[in-house]
Amino acid sequence: MELIQAIRRKAAALYKSIVLPEGEEGRTIKAAQIITKERLAAVTLLGSREGILKAEPAADLSGINVIDPAICNIAKYAKILYDARKSKGLTEEEANRLARDPLYLGVLMVKAGNADGMVSGAIHSTGDVLRPALQIIKTAPGINTVSSCFIMLLPEGCKYGDGGVLVFADCAVNPNPTAEQLKDIAISSAASAKSIAGITPRVAMLSFSTKGSAKHELADKVIEATRLVKEAAPDLIVDGELQLDAALVEKVGKLKAPDSKVAGLANVLIFPDLQAGNIGYKLVERLAGAEAVGPICQGFNMPVNDLSRGCSVEDIINVVAMTALQCG
Ligand code: ACO
Repeated sequence: MELIQAIRRKAAALYKSIVLPEGEEGRTIKAAQIITKERLAAVTLLGSREGILKAEPAADLSGINVIDPAICNIAKYAKILYDARKSKGLTEEEANRLARDPLYLGVLMVKAGNADGMVSGAIHSTGDVLRPALQIIKTAPGINTVSSCFIMLLPEGCKYGDGGVLVFADCAVNPNPTAEQLKDIAISSAASAKSIAGITPRVAMLSFSTKGSAKHELADKVIEATRLVKEAAPDLIVDGELQLDAALVEKVGKLKAPDSKVAGLANVLIFPDLQAGNIGYKLVERLAGAEAVGPICQGFNMPVNDLSRGCSVEDIINVVAMTALQCG
């Protein structure tokens, strides 16, 4: 919880503008009011005033920017969309129609510089939220893969990670990453560990093998990914392939990978694929009682974040605060 409070304080100091496309959704409206009252960010809700007040009749919209996608001037945004997608066959007519879709409009506002970041997904799937951003905002320089991480906050007294703070990736986006994609996931996760979790990353590339203990093409992928990370980010503290116990437990790390700067000390865990990552974070959440903060999207050229459809008002506020930190 201390980390969450620190993230909110940092966000308030930055006071970025964040667009919330699901502006007529109850939790989003409640979150927007709290964010505005606490001056965590300047919020824009996409929706009509009537729609917002229908969902939340007592909503106080003072200080909140409201833009109605159905009637606002979208000419500038439709042009950005058309220019970005005409090579993929998008027509001007389709661009004009899509630019009024709140999920596209939110991303287009970020792309046009009319908002610093976007948060959505309380009522839309991950795919629906990420697709417009993948198409329009694209990836950050040097990164070709958008991915996600969770900041895992372990119960008090946990000796792993940095005082029980660990970053897990990719747990939500890329089903079967290649070695090249794992490299991007590791580099983006290290950046998230620094900018959002406030920790100095020590990155473990996880496998069922430690330093050649098993021979298999799945382990070879992780070995290759580790080589690529070291080549692309020579200053990053990273090692692999490591088993989970070798990555986290000092005694095991010393035994299995005695020369490693990461073994036994890892605070960023890169899983070899989405099945491992998604199952892994849920296991730690359910069996160890950890709080899983995220998923946080990483690797975009401008910050866009996806909410879980089961999110609470507090979750939305926290993701908005983390999005503000990603604005730089
Ligand atoms: N990074 C960068 N670009 C990407 C990525 C990526 N990870 N994925 C797709 N793209 C690009 C494509 O190259 C394409 O670009 P182009 O149109 O300019 O050529 C564009 O984005 C759209 O690609 P599609 O393949 O059409 O996108 P898709 O419909 O596959 O959606 C998505 C991408 C949403 C990320 C998909 O991979 C997905 O559904 N992932 C799993 C999400 C999920 O179900 N997670 C588990 C639940 S979440 C949880 O439990 C917390």
